[in-house]
Amino acid sequence: MAGVSVALAALVFSLSCLGSGTGATVGGPDGDTIFLSVNVSRVLKVVSERFLSVAIDASLLAEEKFMYLLSSQKLRTLAKALTPGFLRFGGTKQDFMVFSPHTRSNAALRPDGNAAQRLKKEWAEQEVLLQKEEIQGHYSKVRFSEHAVDLLYSFANCSGFDLIFGLNALLRTKNNSWDSRNAETLLNYCESQNYSMSWELGNEPNSFEKKADVRVDGYQLGQDFLHLRNILKNSKLYHTTGLYGPDVSQPKNHRKDLLQGFLETAAKAIDACTWHHYYVNGREASMEDFLSPKVLDTLTTKITKVLQTVTLASPGKKVWLGETSSAYGGGATGLSDTFVAGFMWLDKLGLAAKLGIDVVVRQVLIGSGTYHMVDANLDPLPDYWLSILYKRLVGPEVLDADGLTNSGVPGRKLRVYLHCTNKKSPNVRKGAVTLFALNLSKKKMEIIMPSRLNRSSVEAFVLEAGKTTGLVQLNGAVLKMVNDSTLPPLHGITLPPGQSLKLPGRAFAFYVLRDASVPVCW
Ligand SMILES: *[C@@H]1O[C@H](CO)[C@@H](O)[C@H](O)[C@H]1NC(C)=O
Ligand SMILES: *[C@@H]1O[C@H](CO)[C@@H](O)[C@H](O)[C@H]1NC(C)=O
Ligand SMILES: *[C@@H]1O[C@H](CO)[C@@H](O)[C@H](O)[C@H]1NC(C)=O
Ligand SMILES: *[C@@H]1O[C@H](CO)[C@@H](O)[C@H](O)[C@H]1NC(C)=O
Ligand SMILES: *[C@@H]1O[C@H](CO)[C@@H](O)[C@H](O)[C@H]1NC(C)=O
Ligand SMILES: *[C@@H]1O[C@H](CO)[C@@H](O)[C@H](O)[C@H]1NC(C)=O
Ligand SMILES: *[C@@H]1O[C@H](CO)[C@@H](O)[C@H](O)[C@H]1NC(C)=O
Repeated sequence: MAGVSVALAALVFSLSCLGSGTGATVGGPDGDTIFLSVNVSRVLKVVSERFLSVAIDASLLAEEKFMYLLSSQKLRTLAKALTPGFLRFGGTKQDFMVFSPHTRSNAALRPDGNAAQRLKKEWAEQEVLLQKEEIQGHYSKVRFSEHAVDLLYSFANCSGFDLIFGLNALLRTKNNSWDSRNAETLLNYCESQNYSMSWELGNEPNSFEKKADVRVDGYQLGQDFLHLRNILKNSKLYHTTGLYGPDVSQPKNHRKDLLQGFLETAAKAIDACTWHHYYVNGREASMEDFLSPKVLDTLTTKITKVLQTVTLASPGKKVWLGETSSAYGGGATGLSDTFVAGFMWLDKLGLAAKLGIDVVVRQVLIGSGTYHMVDANLDPLPDYWLSILYKRLVGPEVLDADGLTNSGVPGRKLRVYLHCTNKKSPNVRKGAVTLFALNLSKKKMEIIMPSRLNRSSVEAFVLEAGKTTGLVQLNGAVLKMVNDSTLPPLHGITLPPGQSLKLPGRAFAFYVLRDASVPVCW
């Protein structure tokens, strides 16, 4: 362990109640009926046990002092509940970051309680600056010291995350190959501290030209990765560690070319192929987008395209959504940090697993933008609660399920996914399955269980928007932390066998079918 003491004096943060509700649950009187159709004779896909993973944007390092936010007990409590998982440290800023040992900034002093409050306030101001930088497309260089690395590592290690560090790929030599010297200095430092971690190189290299006037094609980037893999191979600690890339943006024509060229050159250097996905532009997005089956379905098209490219160039290579959220450009204000964001997030988790994506890295756990899971007070937002329920209840084995209307076609506004129940979930019975369902419309919905599953009792976890933006209700009760070191119990409601499942409008739910006795989930 590094010489960093981990417990920042208990920070007392107040719950903020901003604005009014999202108006999400005003429904008409009638509901629709959906017939659940399943085939549980085989497992469709098995994803990583770290499937739901999270990111911290490298912009948190814009000033080293902000890394102290990671010492908060409250944040560590929240983080621990999301493990096992990867913690990716990366993003646009990573390609403007230089490791500078022995340069401790004078602000890098451990804050006391008051200083921690001030820090959060300053972070809010910093976010505005970062946003501006992004809009102007001009990024300032950041130097970071061993101390920043220590704070990051101790956060990951104490929470139980597997840290992935994104290296700067915009350090280039005269002949435009990657200049690895700074990375080697950093690797040597991390190795000297026995920091167990894995690596990435470059963030969205397809837009290097726009961001920094540097053009790197797939072949050259591949060469850079082969070079990094060689460096890692020669390290005692990192010779078998993970290397992930190339972290390209979602497919558009020239981006696909970069990915293809990269894989043809360097597929053997990477353990998983990473790409990024956002549904919509944060500055234009509307509430309707978050609830639109058409928008949600665009993910299927993108995933299918990437999987085709990867399968052609490197069959069998694992594919990750290496950075993903609802809306790019920092998220959509008033949407990405509210209950409605959960429709995009939960549907993405369902679709990605069903299509065979191995890991999904959520942008961001904490940091700039509005797509964070934890607000500026370090209080959990609706997507956080959704994520821990997913972690606890949903296992890595994906099963085949559809919600059909009366006429036998899949319902557009009801989306269902079925997995084996997480075998590590408390009191789980062998053969249990977890259904999760999203009702995008305002009307309440009734799900009729198929005869294969209707003899099982059901534990229901229904999530709805709280009356106040930023709050969420589980089975009618608002969720909040008990204190900085304790999460509330997350109880389901037990329903007897043979009932239909009633889902309110604009809500989503997890249903654990405890006595389903599905052999492939044994
Ligand atoms: C990381 O955490 C584990 C378990 O808490 C501990 O045993 C290990 O020494 C830590 N590793 C480092 C390098 O700090
Ligand atoms: C919830 O989803 C269904 C299923 O498509 C949709 O038709 C309905 O409008 C919503 N409410 C229901 C089913 O009552
Ligand atoms: C369920 O899936 C299995 C395996 O793919 C298939 O053989 C079987 O026909 C399917 N059953 C139904 C009812 O579709
Ligand atoms: C580019 O430069 C680096 C170091 O400056 C060197 O190691 C590498 O071989 C060069 N690559 C080519 C293709 O000339
Ligand atoms: C790292 O681990 C090795 C072997 O386990 C040990 O000898 C060494 O003292 C450790 N170094 C540090 C800085 O903890
Ligand atoms: C937090 O709450 C738990 C459960 O009520 C309690 O056991 C613990 O002592 C509390 N911790 C603090 C620091 O208040
Ligand atoms: C289960 O479904 C079958 C077929 O629809 C039905 O006949 C049976 O009554 C249902 N069982 C229960 C307990 O509802």
